[in-house]
Amino acid sequence: MGLKILQKGHLKATEKHIRNHFENEGSGHDWWHIFRVRNLALKIAEKEGGDLFIIEMAALLHDLDDWKLNGDSNESKAKKWLKEIGVSNSDAGRILEIIDQVSFKGAGVENKAIYPEAKIVQDADRLDAIGAIGVARTFAYGGSKHRLIYDPEIKPVMHSDFEAYKKNTAPTINHFYEKLLLLKDRLNTASAIQLAESRHRFMEDFLKQFLMNGKEKINISNPDK
Ligand code: ADP
Ligand code: NI
Repeated sequence: MGLKILQKGHLKATEKHIRNHFENEGSGHDWWHIFRVRNLALKIAEKEGGDLFIIEMAALLHDLDDWKLNGDSNESKAKKWLKEIGVSNSDAGRILEIIDQVSFKGAGVENKAIYPEAKIVQDADRLDAIGAIGVARTFAYGGSKHRLIYDPEIKPVMHSDFEAYKKNTAPTINHFYEKLLLLKDRLNTASAIQLAESRHRFMEDFLKQFLMNGKEKINISNPDK
């Protein structure tokens, strides 16, 4: 079944709104990240199913209230927007729950995508965090926060709670060990697992060359041990 006319209008308005909002974003969360996540999510949904309107809306809105970009603001911009354009309460509630389920909260924090639509949007977001695009976005983010690229004396840490993960200010290369290399084993759908393979390999090759074929060592320190 195709989308209803009303839903098409909501999608169009949301795309325009998000495109404006993320226009000058320099930390790797620009409009083209949202654009890729939306397209990847719809592509995954072709095989995996799910409500296409909910998936596309959640993909478009997924970074609007992200803690990395907003701090801990408790006013939800996504909620306000959905109300403004007149999305039904039940659809809006579902979209907001999905957005909440999508974000990565630390290496030791359990993945909590529950709805099929959340699994798909989360996979799409995670695919855009790895591979060549992931490498570029990660250094853009690190630069935007004035982080070092690499400091051999600061080891990656496997965060077991979201608060500790949020407070982290480590060099950008550590983020590969703390999150990006873990993502391929945390995907939800078979379609995304397949797409992740070559992207994951690309990051491993990148890190190998970066660390001079093993001459530089990254040891992961585990605070729980
Ligand atoms: P998530 O919801 O999983 O955090 P986002 O799309 O909001 O996904 O963005 C995550 C991306 O932001 C990461 O893939 C990475 O590129 C960048 N990022 C987040 N935290 C860090 C960090 N500490 N160091 C470098 N890059 C980071
Ligand atoms: Ni994102």
